[in-house]
Amino acid sequence: MACGCNCGEDELTKQLDIIIEPYKGKPSGLIQVLTKAQELIGYLPKWAQVRIAEGLGVSLQEVYGVVTFYAFFSLIPRGRHKISVCAGTACYVKGTKTVLKTLREAIDIKPGQTTPDSRFTLEIVRCIGACGLAPAMIIDGKDVHGRLEPEQIPEILEKYA
Ligand code: FES
Repeated sequence: MACGCNCGEDELTKQLDIIIEPYKGKPSGLIQVLTKAQELIGYLPKWAQVRIAEGLGVSLQEVYGVVTFYAFFSLIPRGRHKISVCAGTACYVKGTKTVLKTLREAIDIKPGQTTPDSRFTLEIVRCIGACGLAPAMIIDGKDVHGRLEPEQIPEILEKYA
């Protein structure tokens, strides 16, 4: 994964070119290439989008359109663990604001941001299908933590070193 500076960009560019190669001039491979590029880099920075657009023969605008259409793709560096705090109605009523406040105090980032050590990315989502456990959050898209009390949150975060 890229560290955020340009130190590894040359090597990443070479690896990205290897990903693009089988799809040269094939716009239909755009999603596959973007998926692999994101696995390689950790997100889809502009330089990678430009290279992909040139390689596949599509416009940068089209690449950007796909990247911003699918929630799976990210334009910003992501942490190793994604914390998704539910702001659906049931959770909101039962304490989403408190959950977010506690998280912000614990990891010092706002929704949409990643911690400087790339450990966590914080985001707000709509109902995660666990309304009976409100207020809830889901980590890494699979670990649901519900009936959250502020004092539990630091302990939960400890599990994601
Ligand atoms: S509203 Fe939060 S899980 Fe449904």
